[in-house]
Amino acid sequence: MIKVITYGTYDLFHRGHQRLLERAKALGDYLIVGVTADTFDRERGKINVQQTLMERVEAVRATGLADEIIIEEYEGQKIDDIKRYGVDIFTVGSDWRGKFDYLREFCEVVYLERTEGVSSTEIRSEKRALRLGLVGESPILDKIRNESSFVNGIEISGIFTINDHCLSDDLKRLATATPSFDRLMEESDALYIISEPRLHYAQIRQALSRGKHVLCESPIAMTVDEWQELINMARERGLVLMDSIKTAYSLAYYRLRLLAKSGIIGDIMSVDATCTSLFNFDAFKQGDRQLPEWNSICAWGPTALLPIYQLLGTDYTDKTIVTRLAEGNADFDLFTKISFIYPDAVASLKVGRGVKSEGELVISGTKGYIYVPAPWWKTDYFEVRYEDPVANKRYFYQLDGEGLRYELVSFLKSVQTGRSLSYVSESVSRAIAGTISDFVARRDTVII
Ligand code: CTP
Repeated sequence: MIKVITYGTYDLFHRGHQRLLERAKALGDYLIVGVTADTFDRERGKINVQQTLMERVEAVRATGLADEIIIEEYEGQKIDDIKRYGVDIFTVGSDWRGKFDYLREFCEVVYLERTEGVSSTEIRSEKRALRLGLVGESPILDKIRNESSFVNGIEISGIFTINDHCLSDDLKRLATATPSFDRLMEESDALYIISEPRLHYAQIRQALSRGKHVLCESPIAMTVDEWQELINMARERGLVLMDSIKTAYSLAYYRLRLLAKSGIIGDIMSVDATCTSLFNFDAFKQGDRQLPEWNSICAWGPTALLPIYQLLGTDYTDKTIVTRLAEGNADFDLFTKISFIYPDAVASLKVGRGVKSEGELVISGTKGYIYVPAPWWKTDYFEVRYEDPVANKRYFYQLDGEGLRYELVSFLKSVQTGRSLSYVSESVSRAIAGTISDFVARRDTVII
């Protein structure tokens, strides 16, 4: 019996896939088809595969051509599979010619002519692109523009900014073409907002009332009432409204969350997160301009709150905020520390734009702890540590684009499918707005 093996993503199954599988089957008596796992695709840079692994496996199964379907999960697996299944022929399309010659050591390698004129990439990009308008004043806008080029299905439609000093020349040109918020909305299906936090509520409200989806740098509102109003508006209109917190989409952080929840360190007793980035006060002439509204709590609070609310939930029993404000500016906190008490755990965060500290995350449990080195919010690495260091484990996950790329994919998929695929749940989003609002109203707050 001649065994043949072939691999692919098989996203949005098309006639090119069908023809390849037919010819692969004809090469022998038994066909094994390897379908790539989502994480494997992500690692190799294919990030916006539209269908889930199960849907793609189903499409291959439905052809009736595969005698066996396996999942391709890691680099180098092909050699293992060929040996394990006793494969005689490895085959793929001619777009891979030469790339798999190294497998000739183990079996015959056949490149089949690729079917002209069709590919998953083309089918994905035929869907009308989501026109994403940018709003605000931040160098992150340049990153968003750059990262959107890795996501097919999003095109940047323009930018509305009050102050273009931190934008690239390309973005400045786009800003001239869309000089008002209204004009930008005319050109866009959705907005990414990173304006000053106090403007978020009004801008999101306006966008939703015009039928636009919104991805907004967290916090999306400064009070829970405003937050609720926006969430209701989005729901009534069938629009997507998502908090942007890129760390939520970092693979290492996401995996760490799952590991912590699965009990690898026992019961979680404490979550401690620190995020700081020194603001350049010297270069900033206080006389000319106001200090920026992205104070410590707004700039870093949502990120530092993320592991606390995601791991311990939002039902804490007590909270104390301790803050140090800038001289002559009661809105700008140089440093803020928040301590939380839960029924069976505690948590703390430290954020600072006027104080520097080690930006690490430590999750302490009854059996061990998870340590994420600075800067933990854009890490590709963490360790699980135990009393006996021999049992320690290290985890690496590649991080492309600081998580922004995957956040854009989630946003796009949410818009396309009409259901929220945000990694920040509504309860966490609400709790973040609540904490910021407590800070602003000086509830549970001590000023030092
Ligand atoms: N294939 C083919 N003819 C096409 C498209 C794909 O013969 N027009 C083959 C590929 O060479 C590969 C298999 O089908 O052996 C699975 O390919 P996959 O990468 O899943 O499909 P693509 O359409 O090439 O996907 P993408 O555009 O995302 O790269």
